[in-house]
Amino acid sequence: KDLINDAKIVLNNNFQEKGYSIPCKGLYPFQWKWDSGFIAIGLAHYDMNKAKKEIETLLNAQWGNGFIPHIIFHVETDTYFPGKDFHQSELHPLSNRKYPSTGMTQPPVVGFTLEKMYTIAEDKKDVLNFIKNNIDKVYNNHKYFYENRDPQNEGLVYIYHNWESGTDNSPLWDDIWKTMNPPEYEFTRRDTDLVDPSQRPSRREYDHYLHIIEIAKQHNYSDEKIAELSPFLVQDPLFNSMLIKSNDSLISLYNILGKNEDKIEQLQQWQDKSIATFNNKLFDTELGAYIHYDLRNEKPIRFVSSSSFSPLFAGISSKERAKTLVNTMMNKFGSDDMYLCASFDPTSERFNPKKYWRGPVWINLNWILYFGLKDYGFKNIAQRVKDDSIELIKKEGFYEYFDPRKSIYNSEKGGYGGYNFSWSASLFLDLLN
Ligand code: DGY
Repeated sequence: KDLINDAKIVLNNNFQEKGYSIPCKGLYPFQWKWDSGFIAIGLAHYDMNKAKKEIETLLNAQWGNGFIPHIIFHVETDTYFPGKDFHQSELHPLSNRKYPSTGMTQPPVVGFTLEKMYTIAEDKKDVLNFIKNNIDKVYNNHKYFYENRDPQNEGLVYIYHNWESGTDNSPLWDDIWKTMNPPEYEFTRRDTDLVDPSQRPSRREYDHYLHIIEIAKQHNYSDEKIAELSPFLVQDPLFNSMLIKSNDSLISLYNILGKNEDKIEQLQQWQDKSIATFNNKLFDTELGAYIHYDLRNEKPIRFVSSSSFSPLFAGISSKERAKTLVNTMMNKFGSDDMYLCASFDPTSERFNPKKYWRGPVWINLNWILYFGLKDYGFKNIAQRVKDDSIELIKKEGFYEYFDPRKSIYNSEKGGYGGYNFSWSASLFLDLLN
């Protein structure tokens, strides 16, 4: 009971007058795309107007080509780097001048967020009306992805920056960094003043992050040029699972709304092609898991991460393959002394239990895995993911990420990164409902 109340307090404190939520105070002072979706799901449980506002504000920042940016810089502040002056997304001819933003995106979660809001709503008519007024923007966002981010017309879209993945400093990208040799940029990080640097990406990693943006800027954020020149070009199973899940939600919602047959048909076409290629191209039989594909260097990235299991959430794998996936999850991530689910393979030498996306447990990924496992009938493991998430929050509070090693909690703190973190609070509320 008290924690439910605390979660609402976190969300209320992070909700800004302009109608959006910051992920947390200090570290993240703007609106982030995939955070907004996850936050709206929690808000929907007790304040639907705020949930609607959150999504409406995000969609207001959409560009003329359907693109939705990853950060919207609603306020001026020098406490975050890199800010709008570095990103200069206004170089893109179709950018949204009213809402300064980055020129990159994040996983497309808004489709399934809308469906979740509808499911949660007591006043279905009111939420359906909201959906009716906004759903085409989400559809146009998906159209943008399929028309601009799939150069080989495979049904899988690429990300051109690790920040687009959401799993910013995952060891998945280490081999891509080795193909680059960026200059050492002059810049002042702000995040490492706020959080223990051992829990954040390294300075040299930031050089790579900035370098990709410099290349995009040199070409005014042209998708075509980025596809041709970006040293980072990846087909990410997490990103594509979010898109496929959201396609599915849009189909359901358009069906409820009626009419829109043409859009339903188009969504179904994307869906069929995407799911087929996803299974053919992104499943690694030897590892028993879905993996990332490096489109720039035309080679699979053969590591298992929590993203490897996200296709369960989107109904992508066959029942049989789902069993294989769950075996892999339990063998590598599921030993008794570990909380589910580490963000990176704990048996790999690249695993780091403290460092951001190199190992810690993240509540949003756990939320995705919980529903995926549950849908496929893995009740006990789903329950363990849920119980572990709740236990970590009970122990430590609404941290951004958590150490997966159970043993350390006897003597240390295992909650890391930002505190009073919105999506940890919001998805906690959803898991309890
Ligand atoms: C950060 O600043 O670390 C963010 O995750 C970028 O999206």
